Amino acid sequence: MLRPRLKHRFTRRTLLRMGPLTLVSLVAACSRPFSHKNTVLPATPACGKDLTTPPQTEGPFYTPDSPQRTSLLEPGFSGTPIVVTGQVLSSECRPIAGALVDCWHTNDRGEYDNEGYQFRGHQFTDADGQYRIETIVPGIYPGRTRHFHIKVQAANQPVLTTQLYFPEESATNQNDFLFDPALLMTVDDGGDTKRASFNFVLKTV
Ligand SMILES: [Fe+2]
Repeated sequence: MLRPRLKHRFTRRTLLRMGPLTLVSLVAACSRPFSHKNTVLPATPACGKDLTTPPQTEGPFYTPDSPQRTSLLEPGFSGTPIVVTGQVLSSECRPIAGALVDCWHTNDRGEYDNEGYQFRGHQFTDADGQYRIETIVPGIYPGRTRHFHIKVQAANQPVLTTQLYFPEESATNQNDFLFDPALLMTVDDGGDTKRASFNFVLKTV
């Protein structure tokens, strides 16, 4: 097997040559969180009993019995495409297969379809607890920041109703009475389709 060539190899001799002060600096640098442009990035979101996904209100626009589908895109749709992916996990950090993930949101003008099922759909996680929602970036309507509505439910477990938020909306997020930073997705804006991710951690009973 080919091994990558290391430019710098720290042997016992080189470490001794560096002296105690340089060694202290090296250890400090290695233990510092990665930062970019003076912004310390948060640690990878973890799961655990104290890190379960917080619930939020369902709001007035939920419609039950949405179609089962992973793509909410329909012919002639308008808006910026986005793919949201992630896992549904137990508070013991185990992937939950077959969990329901039901999503609903507005069109790109901030309007809900309360007659039909436009931008509404549910699916079930795969064997690794993964889900994938292909849709558009929702519009904003008065009084709210940009958000997705989501229901997640493991088999024979309570339903988690919550919402997901966009980090790039920091100004409107701060003015939103429901916004919770624990529900921020990670969003990659590169390319024609945005890519977002969020892992749900369920309180299982
Ligand atoms: Fe809403």
